[in-house]
Parts: sequence; C-alpha cells; structure tokens
Amino acid sequence: MSTATSLDYTQQPDNKDLDHIPGEYGLPWVGKAIPIMKDVYATVDDHYKRFGPVSRIRMGGQNGLLVVGGDLYQQVYLDRDKNFSTKMGYAKQLGGMYPDTILLQDFDEHKIQRRMFQGAFKNDAMRGYVDMMNPVMKHHLDQWEHIEPLVFFPSIKKTLLDVGATIFVGMEIGAEADKMSQAFLDSSEGLLGLIRMDMPGLKWHKGKEGVRYLRQLFKEMIPVRRAGDGKDTFSFLCKEKHENGEYFSDEEILNQLTFLLFAAHDTTTSALCHMVYYSAQHPEWQQKMREESLALGKPMMTYDDLDSMKITDMVFHESLRLYPSVPLMTRRTIRECELGGYRVPANTILFLPPTYNHHMPEYWTNPDKFDPERFSPARNEHKNHSFCYVPFGGGAHKCIGMHFANMLAKCFMHQFLLKYEYNTPPNYHPEMLSMPLPRPADGIPLKLKKRG
Ligand code: HEM
Repeated sequence: MSTATSLDYTQQPDNKDLDHIPGEYGLPWVGKAIPIMKDVYATVDDHYKRFGPVSRIRMGGQNGLLVVGGDLYQQVYLDRDKNFSTKMGYAKQLGGMYPDTILLQDFDEHKIQRRMFQGAFKNDAMRGYVDMMNPVMKHHLDQWEHIEPLVFFPSIKKTLLDVGATIFVGMEIGAEADKMSQAFLDSSEGLLGLIRMDMPGLKWHKGKEGVRYLRQLFKEMIPVRRAGDGKDTFSFLCKEKHENGEYFSDEEILNQLTFLLFAAHDTTTSALCHMVYYSAQHPEWQQKMREESLALGKPMMTYDDLDSMKITDMVFHESLRLYPSVPLMTRRTIRECELGGYRVPANTILFLPPTYNHHMPEYWTNPDKFDPERFSPARNEHKNHSFCYVPFGGGAHKCIGMHFANMLAKCFMHQFLLKYEYNTPPNYHPEMLSMPLPRPADGIPLKLKKRG
C-alpha cells in the first residue's frame, strides 16, 4: 500500500473507480442525491443494512463512499496518518464561494488559520457575547407577542441574523446590518445554484455578488476594528497575531469572517428549530426547562449561569442527536488507504452522515425516541463510544463554535420559556427536511401564550 504521493493531491481529479466495494450508485449523475435530501437516515440505513459500514454511492456527479460507525469516524476524524483531506472533501461544494477558509484547509495550513480564532472564543469573549446577545433576543421576542401563528423558522432566522451582525461583526441592528445580512443570505443561497457561473441572473452570481459586498464592507472596517476596543468576534480576529507576532493579513481575516457567518447561522437556526419543535411536542420537557429557568430568578442569564442549565443542555443535545444541523460531512482520501477492510484508492470522496451514528442501537436505547435523559449523568449514552455523538464533528476540524452554539441556545430558550408557553397545532406531523438545512418543512407554526 503506498504511503505517499509525489503529486499535489489538491490538483488530482476525484477517483470514480469504486466497483470493488459493495454499494449502489443510483441514477446516472444525480445518483442518490434526491433520496438523501429527502431522508438522510432512511437512505443510509438502507445502504448499511444491505452493504455494511462502507458502501459506494453517488451524489450529484460525485462517486464516493458512505461511511458509518464510531470506529470509522474515529479513524477519519483523528486521521493519525494524514490520509484524509477536509479541503478536498468540501472543495466542490464550498470552494467556489468560500475559498481558503478554515474548513478548506488541511494540516499545518489549517492549524495556522485556526489560531486566528483563539481569542474570539475564550471565556472573556464568550462572557461579553452573552451580554450582547440578550438584548437583541429580547427585542425580537417582544415583537412576537401579537403574531399568530408565529412561524418559528423565519422568526428565529431573522433574530439570529441580528445576533450575528451584532456579535460576529460588531454592527448595530438597523438598515446597514440588514444589508449585510442580506448579502450573507445571498451568498449561502448561491451555493444551491445548479449552474455555477458568475453570470447575471444566476443564483450563483447573486451569491458571489453577496460575498464581494461582504468582503468590501469588512475590508473597510478592519483598521477601525483593530484600533478600537470592540468585543465582537471581528475585533478579536483583527487583533489576533501569527506566531511571529504579525497580524493576520486582511485577506486571511476576510476569508475566515465571511465563512464564520455561514458556519454559525444555518446550524444554530436548525438546532433551535428542533429544540422548539420537540419541546412543543413534549410539553413535559418544555415545563421542565421552564422550571429550571424560573429557578434562576432572572430575566436574562449571564455567562456564569450556563452550567446550571442542565435540562436545557440535555434537550439541546437530544435535538441535535435526532437532527444534526450538518447532515453530511465530507473528506477525500489523499493516498490509498484501508477503511473498514476495503482498499480505498487515493482521491476518493467520503460521505459521513452523523445522523446514522446517532441512531445505532449499539450506542443508544430506543434511538428513535426523543429522550433527553439519555444525556443525563446517570445514563451518559453519548459516552458509549467517543464518536457515537458527532453533531460537531471531531478531530482537527471539530466545530470552533460548539460552546457558542450551546450558549446561544440556552440564552434564547431561557428568555423564550419565561415569556411564552408554546404549542404546535393538534396532530402536528410536519414533513422533516434533511437538506440543505434540517428543519420541519412548514417552518413550525406556533401558538404562543404570553406568561403573566
Ligand atoms: C448547533 C450549531 C452548530 C453545529 C451543529 C455545527 C457543526 C459543525 C461541524 C459538524 C463542523 C465540522 C465539519 C467537518 O469536520 O467536516 C463544524 C465546523 C466549524 N464550525 Fe460549527 N456548528 C455549529 C455552530 C457553529 C457556530 C455558532 C460557529 C461560529 C461561531 C461555528 C463555526 C465553525 C467553524 C469556523 C468550523 C470550521 C472549523 C475548522 O475547520 O477547523 N459553528 N461545525
């Protein structure tokens, strides 16, 4: 088995020759993209039962391998032999819109960029973020009072855009922040464009225009953020330095900040949709979380209160177990290697759907059931394997915003639970979308009852 390649792996085409591995490609070109988009779990379950933990599949023109199970995720994420490229795993989906960002870098190059985020997610920074996000959330929650039904998805989306503009970029909410958020939305919607050409009229072009707008806006702000005493993420990134004592370049900051908005927004929106969906469907859990918030005895929580929110924490993790916000992670092999007993050629795309590990009966009791107690210290099911619960990935690229996401969910739920009781309509069984953003398809219509 070869251990090294003399050719630059980033310049190689994807390997399409996987016929020696069991599996099923599906339709020409699209492969199984449609069933995967409709229901990741069911499609992967079918492959696993028929072909085992490694099976060949095709999605949107890419032949690759579906990989499931704790041991294989451990091998890929920890990547002791540097066999797996994250950069090339995401190059086709994200490279054209967000080139040279942290998720599109490997090994030493990646380590250097990850250093830029050090100060931005330390305790002191996080403490400041809590105080900045609370009033923005309150502003939105107050407006929901007279809306019936309150469709949760667009409402939380708007709230989190304002939270992002305030915390990540350091902007005041208002017209300029709205323009920035719209450019960001265009860029992430651009990724859904089927024709990836920078030509007016195409979704992809609108997305690229959005990125160009953001980069220009942020570029002008860098000197101000670097000289000021802002407590927003952008200011932290501007002040962080390389090991040699030099600031990160404007180009590096623009790349990472633009991607950070993308990495943070849809993921937290999806997580909150599922928390609210499940706690509306299970009013006993809604009430348990509310009692925990009431016991805190204050309208907004502080950073020091976060650890005491044990029930909300369990509901957060159980919702992410059932519907992880990133439904499919991707890698590409750099050289020929072995995976699950198969010889995998160089430049082979790997698809890693976290949702399958989250349902495997060897790790979880009654895996389909919403049961937050499984995360309690008495049961700790997520510790049955170090890689059975992976909504934030693992290894070198593990989510940088994991604690931020948990904090944001707790701050939001605390205010929401204290202000409202909420229900979904009777016999509510919405279609659940898997991609691009997992969520109930109808946006979750809620009946809100203001608490006294
Ligand atoms: C519930 C919310 C979130 C989920 C489920 C989530 C999930 C993930 C996952 C699965 C990855 C790794 C992808 C891979 O290895 O292929 C990742 C990476 C990343 N996430 Fe998150 N994320 C969330 C929120 C956030 C937030 C709030 C931020 C920023 C404040 C953020 C920033 C990032 C960044 C920068 C990376 C790339 C890290 C690297 O390449 O080293 N994420 N996230």
